[in-house]
Amino acid sequence: MDNEIPILQGRHIVVGVTGGIAAYKAADLTSQLVKAGANVDVVMTPAAAEFVRPLTFQALTHRPVALDMFSLLQETEIGHVSLGKRAELMIIAPATANTLAKLAHGMADNMLTTTALACRGPILLVPAMESGMWDNPATLANMDVLQQRGYHAVGPESGRLASGATGTGRMAEPETILDAARWVLGRGGPLSGMAVVVTAGGTREAIDPVRFVGNHSSGKMGFALAFAARDRGADVTLIHGTTSLSGPYGAKIVAVESAEQMQAAVLDSIPGAAGLVMAAAVADYRPTSAAEHKIKKQAEDMCLELTRTPDILATVAGQRARSGHPTVAIGFAAETQDVLENARAKIARKGLDLIVANDVSAADSGFGVDTNRVTIIDAAGRAESLPLMSKAAVAETIIDRLAEILRRP
Ligand code: PMT
Repeated sequence: MDNEIPILQGRHIVVGVTGGIAAYKAADLTSQLVKAGANVDVVMTPAAAEFVRPLTFQALTHRPVALDMFSLLQETEIGHVSLGKRAELMIIAPATANTLAKLAHGMADNMLTTTALACRGPILLVPAMESGMWDNPATLANMDVLQQRGYHAVGPESGRLASGATGTGRMAEPETILDAARWVLGRGGPLSGMAVVVTAGGTREAIDPVRFVGNHSSGKMGFALAFAARDRGADVTLIHGTTSLSGPYGAKIVAVESAEQMQAAVLDSIPGAAGLVMAAAVADYRPTSAAEHKIKKQAEDMCLELTRTPDILATVAGQRARSGHPTVAIGFAAETQDVLENARAKIARKGLDLIVANDVSAADSGFGVDTNRVTIIDAAGRAESLPLMSKAAVAETIIDRLAEILRRP
C-alpha cells in the first residue's frame, strides 16, 4: 500500500480518546495510523463517546472499541489491562485536563486510564482544552509530573479554540501526532544516540536582490532521508535550501539560501556527528558579486562572472582525514550521462564512504518527482542498483546502509 510507513507497519498502537471537541480529529489520526500499516485499538472514555460514536472508530480499525470496564462481553474480548500490556505505543488524543489530572495521580477509574496505567510501552499525550484550563497551575503541574515520569507530549498549539477565543490549547493536527508517534517509536532504533546531518534542496546564489542562480531540487529526497534517519532514532539536523516541505518532528531544522550558508551550517553541526548525508543540490558556482540593487536592462547581451563555491562534502571529508573525526560521509551524484563512471570519480575525488549515483535524465527519477532510481556505490567500488522506488523507500535503504557502516567494528 502507498501510505505504509515502515516504522508503523505491524506495530500495536492504542489510541485513547477522551471527551473533548477535538475527539473528531482522533478519527482522522486513527485512519492515518491504520493506512500506515499499524494495528490500532481504540479505547474511549464515556465522555468521548458523547462527542464521537464508538462505531466510527470500530469501522476505521475493524476492531471492537474498548469503552466499558464492566461489560462482560468486552472483558472477554479485550480484557481491561491486556490492551495496555500489548501496546507498543499509546497515544492519548485528545487528552483533556481531567484525564491528565487522573493520570498524574495514577487513577484507573475508566477503561482509558486503566489501559494507560497498565501500559508498558511509551505514552504520547496530545493535550487539547481551553487556554484557561491549559494555563492553570494544576494542569501545568500535572504535565510536569507526567513528563518527569517519561510520558511524551505533542502540543497543544495556539490558534482558534472551540469557544471561538484564540489561545493555546488546540490539539496538534493528526499529521503532526502521527509524526511524533514515529519519533517516539524510533527511540531505541539502530541510530539511537547518534547525530546525523542531512542536507536537502537547492541553493540559491544571488545575482541581485530579485534574481538568483538556482536549480530544480525540491528537497523531497533529502527530507525523505531526514525522516528515515529520525525513524531509526538519530538526532537529526536537517539543513535545507528553499522548499515548502515540513521536516520531521524532533529534528533540528536549519533553513539556508546559498552554498556558503549551507557550508557554515554543515560545519557548525558536524562536530560529533556520526553521519553526513548530502542530497542537496549545491551550486558549484555563484555570481562573483551580487548587485546591491536590481540590475536594469541595458545591452542585448550580458555576462555574469561566476566564482566556484566551496565543496562542502570534500571539506568535511578532508577535515575528517586530518582530525580522525569518524563522521561517515555520503554524497549524491546527480548525472545525466555516464552516471556510474562520473559517480565513481566523485566518491574518489571527495573521499566519501558512499555515493548515490542518481540518473536525473529520466522523467520519473531525480529532481522534483516522488520516485527515484539510484545506484549506491561504496568506497571499494561495489555497486548496488535499486529499481525505481519512492524517494521514501530509497531513503530507507540509504539510511540502512549508513547504519550498517556505523555498526562495523
Ligand atoms: O530535491 P529533489 O527534487 O528530491 O531532487 C533530488 C536530487 C536530484 C537533488 C538528489 O537526489 C541529488 O542527486 N542530489 C545531489 C545533487 C548534486 O548537487 O549533485 P553533484 O553531483 O553536483 O554533487 C555531488 C555531491 O557533492 C552532492 O552530494 C552535493 O550535495 C555535494 N556538493 C556539491 C557541490 C558543492 N559545492 N558542495 C557539495 O558538497
